Amino acid sequence: MTADPTYLDEETEIENRVSDLLSRLSLKEKFKLLTSLGRHRLYTTKPIKRLKIPSFKMTDGPLGVAMHSSGFKKNTRFPATVALAATWNRNLMGEIGSTMGREVRAVGRHILLAPGLNIARTPLNGRTFEYFSEDPYLTKELAIPLVKGVQNQRIAACLKHYAANNQEIDRMTSSSEVDERTLNEIYLRAFRATVKEADPWSIMTCYNMVNGVYGCENKYLLQETLMDKWGFDGLVMTDWLASRKVKTTEGCINAGLTLEMPWSYRYNIKALRKAYESGEFTEETLDDRVRRNLRVMMLTGLFDNPEVLPKGTRNAPEHQNLARCVAEEGMVLLKNEGNILPLDIDNLKRISLHGPNLRKKFGKLLSGGSSGVSPPYEVTPLEGIAERCRGKVKLFPGDSLADVAIVFAGLNHGRGGDSESMDRISLHLDDKQVSKIKEVARNHQQTVVCIIAGSPIAMDEWIDDVEAVMMCWYGGMKAGNAIANVLFGDVNPSGKLPLTFPRRLEDSPAHSTGDPRNYPGDDEKRVYYEEGIYVGYRWFDKKEIDPLFPFGYGQSYTQFEFGNIQLNRQSIGKPEDELLVEVEVTNIGARAGSEVVQVYAKDVDASVDRPPQELVGFEKVGLGPGETKTVAVTVKGEDLGFYDVSKHEWTIEAGEFKLFVGSSSRDFHGDVDFSYL
Ligand code: BGC
Repeated sequence: MTADPTYLDEETEIENRVSDLLSRLSLKEKFKLLTSLGRHRLYTTKPIKRLKIPSFKMTDGPLGVAMHSSGFKKNTRFPATVALAATWNRNLMGEIGSTMGREVRAVGRHILLAPGLNIARTPLNGRTFEYFSEDPYLTKELAIPLVKGVQNQRIAACLKHYAANNQEIDRMTSSSEVDERTLNEIYLRAFRATVKEADPWSIMTCYNMVNGVYGCENKYLLQETLMDKWGFDGLVMTDWLASRKVKTTEGCINAGLTLEMPWSYRYNIKALRKAYESGEFTEETLDDRVRRNLRVMMLTGLFDNPEVLPKGTRNAPEHQNLARCVAEEGMVLLKNEGNILPLDIDNLKRISLHGPNLRKKFGKLLSGGSSGVSPPYEVTPLEGIAERCRGKVKLFPGDSLADVAIVFAGLNHGRGGDSESMDRISLHLDDKQVSKIKEVARNHQQTVVCIIAGSPIAMDEWIDDVEAVMMCWYGGMKAGNAIANVLFGDVNPSGKLPLTFPRRLEDSPAHSTGDPRNYPGDDEKRVYYEEGIYVGYRWFDKKEIDPLFPFGYGQSYTQFEFGNIQLNRQSIGKPEDELLVEVEVTNIGARAGSEVVQVYAKDVDASVDRPPQELVGFEKVGLGPGETKTVAVTVKGEDLGFYDVSKHEWTIEAGEFKLFVGSSSRDFHGDVDFSYL
């Protein structure tokens, strides 16, 4: 009997297993490992039977395990990423990550194609719902625990779409023209931090070009930045068919691409052999690329006895309840005049219900594009409210004698809505919805508008007509229950906006000039990011533009009072140093609730142009009625820096900093000074 080869031995250290397997591969087999099964299986790599190397299997996220890539299975549909971000709750991200990881394993896959870390440059981007925020700090703070959660199930997370993929119009052919500082400080920052802190095992390149070079052959982005500077040792795959337009095989392999999905344009055996034999790339480079793929196979347990791997489960009640809790925590109360919310179920007789999203189900095959998760059931707003009101309140779609009316407005995953491969056409609700809201408001004493959408909505034309507005996002398979729980006060809303809501499109940075060169691109399909680092609130603050709702904003059914702010030290001097910003927060209302204490920094002595304030810390705290807690928000030295183009690196300048502490980016309760030495 011959002993099993080292690479099959679970007890051996991973790098040794990888080296052992690599040494057994022929040249052709190495080439094969860079390719996928092609048109037969769109989410599967080529196996090598001789060495018992199985196929790597992946599935789309980021809203759960997508139907089209899991053998047409129905799985738990989680709230959209933007709703996760609105919770500002790091712990929940860890839970979501490991729960998604379990579902991925249960469908026999090894890589979850999520999370998406692209920054919201324009509110029209069709995929805003799949991303976290306009702010890189918030994005990375939430992505890090999420990635760790996925990977603690030995499922690889896949950061996407690297990088500067900020619109869907012309996504396969456009070039994002971004200066070095902006690229690094805004668009790469969350990728960098997540790579360094969560060690994601894979990453997906973008469709678009960045400064004239496609993501999958972009040496600056892949080899030089991701691998050499940040130390990424995982697998780099293309976005689906993204390599179609790139020029050469060697361009991709030398740049750092390790897997071409799902067709072999550049990485077919013939092309790889030809380029190799003509000396266009070395075996050392090839080995590095193959090694990365093998490493992730080892990490995800492809060669291990399934008994030793975490168990997968799908559609467990706990998964579905977690989806509901996150939907509840992510809801943002935007307006609540006269405190008409929460609705008092014992004192209401009739509620009238309206709007195109009242009965809508969002979880369908490919709804919204590749993120479409189809759940075994989905609770619509109507069903959720009906269940909550059963035997207590009469519901009347369209009734005008009701005590209160609720309109379910917003977008959907259809054309011109929140959807992959197309952008929104307008920031506003369509005319029909606006008229509906106005009509309902005219006919009722009290009108609540629940917005179901994944991106900012302009509301000036109707918001004064209604008493309350709740941003519900896409809340996953139990969205209807979550909405009912928040409207009736079983849950006190605590979500905060991860995106600025502009009053009009021209107020937002990518649209301020109205020039196509800034969005959606000039005749050559070049999109010039001329607003630079002034994206999201950084722009609104710098230009002193009044948004409809600022970044970080969200009301509660209770009120919070902030006490004095204290620092545990007056100075720090190293990137890894931490400062504790302590503030007493009291719930002065009659209901339990949670507040997100937000800390923004201003670099007072900066030698370069810097935003008036940037988010550098936050902490969510739950408080019973009358309760006071001292909240300690950690601010890390490294988060105070900027990208210095003269050094091609992040830097933190010595000098004075001011920290603002508040409940949104425009509502501060105090500030403190400290110095960076
Ligand atoms: C999307 C990716 C997705 C991939 C695989 C592409 O169209 O941009 O986000 O993971 O398809 O379905």
